[in-house]
Amino acid sequence: MKAVLLVGGEGTRLRPLTCNTVKAMVPIVNRPFLQHLLGYLKSHGVDDIVVTLCYLPDRIENRFGNGSECGVKLAYVMEETPLGTAGAVKNAESHLDGAFFVFNGDIITNIDLQSMLSFHRKRNAVATIALTPVENPSAYGVVETASDGRVKRFIEKPPADQAPSNLINAGIYILEPTVLQGIPHGSHCMFERQLFPSLLSDGAAVFAYSTSDYWIDMGTPEKYRQVQYDLLQRKCASLLYTETAAANTVAAHGTVVHQSAVLEGPIVFGNNCSIGAGARIKGPTVLGDGCSVSDGSILDKAILWQNVRVGKEASVRESVIGDNCVVGRSSVIEPGSVVGDNVVITEGSHLQTGQRVWPDTTV
Ligand code: GDD
Ligand code: MG
Repeated sequence: MKAVLLVGGEGTRLRPLTCNTVKAMVPIVNRPFLQHLLGYLKSHGVDDIVVTLCYLPDRIENRFGNGSECGVKLAYVMEETPLGTAGAVKNAESHLDGAFFVFNGDIITNIDLQSMLSFHRKRNAVATIALTPVENPSAYGVVETASDGRVKRFIEKPPADQAPSNLINAGIYILEPTVLQGIPHGSHCMFERQLFPSLLSDGAAVFAYSTSDYWIDMGTPEKYRQVQYDLLQRKCASLLYTETAAANTVAAHGTVVHQSAVLEGPIVFGNNCSIGAGARIKGPTVLGDGCSVSDGSILDKAILWQNVRVGKEASVRESVIGDNCVVGRSSVIEPGSVVGDNVVITEGSHLQTGQRVWPDTTV
């Protein structure tokens, strides 16, 4: 079965984490997001995949090549300028024959794709949209359905008081190739604001497949942390992390933990990390390769990328720290902070709740 992946967006809401990398390549428990998505797709029988690229395209193609490492077949299509979600799929049309899946490139889920496919076929739908319930529908595309599952209305990001339901577009579709006919080649077009509303006004058979399976859009710093907490706490299954089920702490090659350090899992360490005397690490926490946590420091629900050095007596709580950062001695990083790559946080600094620090700066 084929799928088209939408990974062309700049991931602006994840900045500064996406200043130097594309959203689909940000690490989720030390592996690129896309590796998780490809593993999931393959396990659901979707292994012939077209990747639509725009922002920083080389990063993805250089890393995943023809897909053989992940057991899938990958093809790439490029957009010179962003074509929008539907325009990007139109751009991949020559790779498509029968019904195919479309995936937003920031979704981690356990939705059963074969069951969605049989739903689509039973109803002779031209488009089936997966729906998932959320607390704050106004940040998403809200979908109103009839009792037989037909989609009645599609409203992208309605104001909070105007969302007709809390069921939202999960960013996963099954489409018949005919729905692409109305999109002019090379023009900007969005499923959410143009194609779906126009199919509905034409009376096309657009159905909703509702599910309460695990689902998250990791495209904000809060959700980016949350999905990793969920993976470590086994709220979401990932084929890449079966080992955390058995052991609460997973240490990769070369990691050294001082005997007086206190570890409260679940914690995943990358390769060659070092944890100093009296340091305390409270999970769910992830450390990338080459991180060091000096004596007496605290990590509490922290996500550290690679080569982060945390000085003595510092604390990092519920925050994300990018590659090659230095957290100075006795610094305090308050919850919700997001620090880009190559940042130096000087000794005794205090990052306020929700502070974002741009790459290559000193604070
Ligand atoms: N190739 C390509 N070209 N990809 C694009 C483009 C483009 O011009 N624009 C966006 N994308 C990709 C992004 O990289 C992302 O993976 C996906 O399309 C969705 O874009 P987001 O920017 O993450 O959209 P959103 O999260 O605000 O809203 C979308 O997802 C929600 C579910 O998470 C919408 O589809 C909503 O309706 C939906 O509820
Ligand atoms: Mg998104």
